[in-house]
Amino acid sequence: MHELTSPQDMHAWSRAERSRGRRIGFVPTMGFLHEGHLQLVDRARQRADRVVLSSFVNPLQFGPREDFASYPRDLARDRSLAAQRGVDCLFTPEVQAMYPTEPLVRIAPGPMAEPLEGATRPGHFAGVLTVVAKLFHIVEPDIAVFGRKDFQQAMLVSRMAADLDFGLEIDIAPTVRELDGLALSSRNSYLNADQRRAALALSRALRAVEQTWRAGEADPAALQRRGMEVLKAPEVSAEYLALVDEELRPVARADARTVVLVAARVGPTRLIDNVVLGEGVASDVPVRGS
Ligand code: PAJ
Repeated sequence: MHELTSPQDMHAWSRAERSRGRRIGFVPTMGFLHEGHLQLVDRARQRADRVVLSSFVNPLQFGPREDFASYPRDLARDRSLAAQRGVDCLFTPEVQAMYPTEPLVRIAPGPMAEPLEGATRPGHFAGVLTVVAKLFHIVEPDIAVFGRKDFQQAMLVSRMAADLDFGLEIDIAPTVRELDGLALSSRNSYLNADQRRAALALSRALRAVEQTWRAGEADPAALQRRGMEVLKAPEVSAEYLALVDEELRPVARADARTVVLVAARVGPTRLIDNVVLGEGVASDVPVRGS
């Protein structure tokens, strides 16, 4: 596996591979890799000849009171997991290399970034889209793979790529979960044993909404109330539970394409999860087992 830290070297590597007719698949991450990230690598592998994985904790997308400094990092472990999974090139730039001067020009994400995560994390999606745009220019992939776990992010990246003619395909992969339903996240490493149990409230709430919808309830307000009931648990403080369409707009009636999004703090740790009603939590990928 190649390992590159300079954006110029990364760009040159990709250019050379493309000139040999190879398709480049790209998986952007903030590192501290888990099976969710690695399944994105598998998808990229299926669709491309070379897989690039970036690991960069992007300061631009963290608010002043958020966890940029304490975000988990373990480059040695990431290196070994990426190599084992068949990544061809690991890109690990320093902050100084990505932002040699203060980035004054940023991507304006528009109305899809305003509700939900955007309401609680002002500037977050401008930071995400700006770094993703930079990474797309550096890597010049044919296809980039994102997880549905971060639904609003995945929709915004898709729209950015289409609206700004990035000329690449965005592939969106299902959420990878522990067998008990908890969606994998680098931030799960912050949870102690009690909080780990309490964190199941998120996937349980999504499941309860899904089951209530399958039983015939289509009123989003009633479904939202049902989810909030299940979300009430010790150590869990709900931020939002919302039923939206693909452009993050509230729905008047829930149908199979409706997405239920949830955010909550478990102790001090902020977690998010979601489900597409017609697909259900059960259709997501379990990390172990059949
Ligand atoms: P990070 O949180 O490291 O996630 C990297 C990618 O892995 C994202 O596309 C995310 O949706 C996906 N992912 C995370 N957990 C997942 C799970 N349980 N199942 C499936 N996919 C999962 O998202 C970011 O980094 C950053 O915002 C980034 C896009 C890299 C820009 O800095």
